Amino acid sequence: MDQYRVFGNPIHQSKSPNIHKAFAQATDQHINYQAQLVKDGEFEETVKDFFAKGGKGLNITVPFKQRAFAMAQVLSAAAKKAEAANTLYLNAQGQLVAENTDGMGLVRDICHNLKGQLAAKRILILGAGGAVRGVLQPVLAQFPTQVVIANRTYSKACDLAALFTDTGPIQATPMAQLKGPFDWIINGTSASLAGDIPPLPQGLITNTSRCYDMMYSAQTTVFNEWALNQGAQQADDGLGMLVEQAAQSFNLWRGVLPPTDEVLLTLRRELKS
Ligand code: ATR
Repeated sequence: MDQYRVFGNPIHQSKSPNIHKAFAQATDQHINYQAQLVKDGEFEETVKDFFAKGGKGLNITVPFKQRAFAMAQVLSAAAKKAEAANTLYLNAQGQLVAENTDGMGLVRDICHNLKGQLAAKRILILGAGGAVRGVLQPVLAQFPTQVVIANRTYSKACDLAALFTDTGPIQATPMAQLKGPFDWIINGTSASLAGDIPPLPQGLITNTSRCYDMMYSAQTTVFNEWALNQGAQQADDGLGMLVEQAAQSFNLWRGVLPPTDEVLLTLRRELKS
């Protein structure tokens, strides 16, 4: 049976094995997908060993996404811009290919599952770490009117915006100087993990604004709670992004885009129970 793994450290929390098992069942593909804890000093050799033994594909998660990117011979446009990869496989020439499906997953969740639109919209993205860097290329590919990056550490927002100016209309703005309204506010900070909300001024949200937290949790995230209290039309969390990035990886490996609705419903139910 074709072998797939997700490599990370820690890895016990990963939902990827269940997601890919469900995709395989739904599309009648016979694959074996497991989570594997990889020691920090052994990442590169574990990847090489996996493919040398006939392994077909890898998902890569924290903290190895940059190292996965660095060891690949062929880079997709999204991986190149992100300088990080969450998906690895070998092409027909036996070269290691790096792809980053996180941004595609976000865009697909917003535009397909949540019936939203990013094209011709004014978008505020909060954060300037790896999570945001990973999604900017596909977001800009939707042709928004403007993407504004705001971050606690302003200089990091400037660096990130500068990296993407050739890709689309992007700029960095200090948080306190943000001027609304925005059609979308996407939270890519890890502030929610600490139960924090970035210090944002009033007036960013109207009753047609939509918000998206790239984090997910059983209860409404603190960021989404803030957004709804400010009067946002709708605020969604990142569980759909998780499922959609997995679907894009599955498609790269198997040539079949799996249906995601049922998997997403099941995960949501499990998260809440
Ligand atoms: P990730 O890979 O998840 O993006 P990261 O690279 O460490 O992780 O980036 C975390 C992001 O969340 C950064 O933009 C960080 O802001 P700084 O650049 O100022 O550190 C942001 N962040 C983390 N905790 C935060 C908090 N409590 N309030 C606001 N922003 C926060």
